[in-house]
Amino acid sequence: MSRSGLRCLPRVLLFLMAVCALGQEPASVGAAAVAGSKEDPAAVARGDKLYAQYCAGCHGASGKGGPGAPDLIRSLLVLDDEKGILIAPVIREGRPDKGMPKLNLTEPQIADLVAWLHVRTYAAGHRGTYTFGNVVTGDASKGQAYFNTTGKCASCHSVTGDLKGIGAKYDSFSLQSRWLYPGNARRRRNAGANSKRATPTVTVTLPSGESISGKLDRIDDFAVSLIDASGAFHSFFRDGATRVEVHDPLKAHKDMLGTYSDADIHNMTAYLVTLK
Ligand code: HEC
Ligand code: HEC
Repeated sequence: MSRSGLRCLPRVLLFLMAVCALGQEPASVGAAAVAGSKEDPAAVARGDKLYAQYCAGCHGASGKGGPGAPDLIRSLLVLDDEKGILIAPVIREGRPDKGMPKLNLTEPQIADLVAWLHVRTYAAGHRGTYTFGNVVTGDASKGQAYFNTTGKCASCHSVTGDLKGIGAKYDSFSLQSRWLYPGNARRRRNAGANSKRATPTVTVTLPSGESISGKLDRIDDFAVSLIDASGAFHSFFRDGATRVEVHDPLKAHKDMLGTYSDADIHNMTAYLVTLK
């Protein structure tokens, strides 16, 4: 999806919200696409909400890809899928080393997402129309309270400092994925010059007592590599080091991911959207 396309989204959402407020159903679903795809409409409707909440921030509101993730509508894996045999394992396990997180969804949720993706690819193939879920459904004042109390967000962030204007910087889908998964590896790579932000660092201590610190390049069970302040690359076998300490500035975010309820997520996004 193009950048200008992303910027238009909030207006589309406002329009849909206005339509809902008038007590009318938004022109929903592309019933023909659902019928044609032979998926259960209830599963597709649930999948639509789940997609908006968990996936749209990276894969784009319509599944056509975003700065952090590929197009799912043209994905061969999605197109070749039957009954979730190919898609479900990717959602279940993620591909954490490639920027696709493991999301701890339940099997019924995964099945609903598979149904939604099938309808999307069917609609794309049949020029069907489809309207997309809304991510700004929460209560901003509850989000604000969570920010300052339970979520402890205020211990690291300030809405008049680093997060000032964040609601104007991103469309609501991207904003939600930014706060849920900041520093996604692929996005960091795409960020180029900004990639210094929030990179894990590592300190390796050698048996001689010498220690070398820098930006973490790679780590596994056997080896660790880093780039020091002068830009020099160092690589060590881990059994040759007495200590390897990794400091990940995003650890708090990763740890928190499992603690939010659906309501917390919706309320927080609704609050962040107001920070214009
Ligand atoms: C933080 C960003 C992010 C989120 C959130 C995310 N994905 Fe992904 N997803 C990715 C990236 C990056 C890849 C590509 C990984 C690779 O290169 O193998 C990917 C790959 C995939 C693939 C495989 C596509 C292919 O052709 O191989 C599927 C299917 C998929 N995601 C579905 C989902 C669904 C469904 C959700 C929501 C439940 C979701 N993703 C949430 C980033 C994300
Ligand atoms: C222990 C510190 C810590 C806590 C607690 C924390 N964050 Fe973060 N947050 C970070 C760091 C570090 C980054 C990465 C900043 C960067 O890339 O420069 C980040 C990034 C973000 C971003 C992305 C900013 C951008 O411009 O892309 C948002 C939004 C955000 N956090 C919101 C939250 C919210 C909401 C909470 C509470 C639920 C929270 N954070 C709790 C440390 C924290």
